[in-house]
Amino acid sequence: MTIPIYGNYHGYYSKRPTVNDARLAVLPEALFHGARVLDIGCNEGWVTCEIAQSLGPHKVVGVDIDDTLVQAAWRRRRTVWSLQGPSPATTLASNNVDDGLQRTSKKRKLEEAPGSAAGAGSRSRNYFPLSCEHEFGSLPIPPTTIRGKHAFPHNVSFRTANWIRDEIPEDAEGYDVVVAFSVSKWIHLNEGDEGLRQFFRKVYSVLKAGGAFVLEPQPWESYAKARRMSEAKNAKSLVIRPEHFSDILRDIGFEPARHFGSIGEGGERLSTPS
Ligand SMILES: C[S@@+](CC[C@H](N)C(=O)[O-])C[C@H]1O[C@@H](n2cnc3c(N)ncnc32)[C@H](O)[C@@H]1O
Repeated sequence: MTIPIYGNYHGYYSKRPTVNDARLAVLPEALFHGARVLDIGCNEGWVTCEIAQSLGPHKVVGVDIDDTLVQAAWRRRRTVWSLQGPSPATTLASNNVDDGLQRTSKKRKLEEAPGSAAGAGSRSRNYFPLSCEHEFGSLPIPPTTIRGKHAFPHNVSFRTANWIRDEIPEDAEGYDVVVAFSVSKWIHLNEGDEGLRQFFRKVYSVLKAGGAFVLEPQPWESYAKARRMSEAKNAKSLVIRPEHFSDILRDIGFEPARHFGSIGEGGERLSTPS
């Protein structure tokens, strides 16, 4: 077994089984609506898929350093799609299937608006039990020409990269929201104080004007266990502590942080509009 020195835990979400992520629940509802979103350290893509399916973004990209987790994230996308119930638009369209005159409007109805009930609305999530996918396999995903590229699951994709060091193609256009849940500790331990500052600077540089950085820093106490586990070379030389993050972000140019609450182990999260 390889040591998860990046926090690249496999089966992470089976230990914290959550369909509705409590961290997303404390954020303002409109935050993701119509937004280009980057989820850094997406692991097996559960949070990324929840944003894409339920919170109405234009596009979400999940990035993780561990390619096997990224492959699992693509599988998660298909599972989430397979559990989703039929949308009212689909039902409507199949009723009209022989009506040639309806074709244009049918297409429009099928291109579900981001965040619409048809896009995933909470009532159609987890409509089918997981056993359906186990028994019958995944449901095929309709092409973007039918479903629209900003409807789930076409609005979510994944990349393998060490995002601190490497660009991904989506970075060039920038993001409205960058999410970093439970990843700052791993970046800090592996890249040191300067690597962490570099991470924050990079987030600032990819955010569009008025964009938001949603950060869930892990508390300092949780570093100790990780330090033993990773034997990270930087661990002993770290001077920055999570309580300094707000000031560092301000120095980079972010507006003062807003705190949205403390949930579970990860501690507080803060959103810092640029
Ligand atoms: C503890 S998990 C958190 C997963 C998810 N963000 C959440 O909170 O539900 C941390 C993830 O960050 C990833 N990671 C760590 N350093 C990274 C880096 N430099 N670039 C991309 N991903 C990274 C790990 O592989 C791991 O999957």
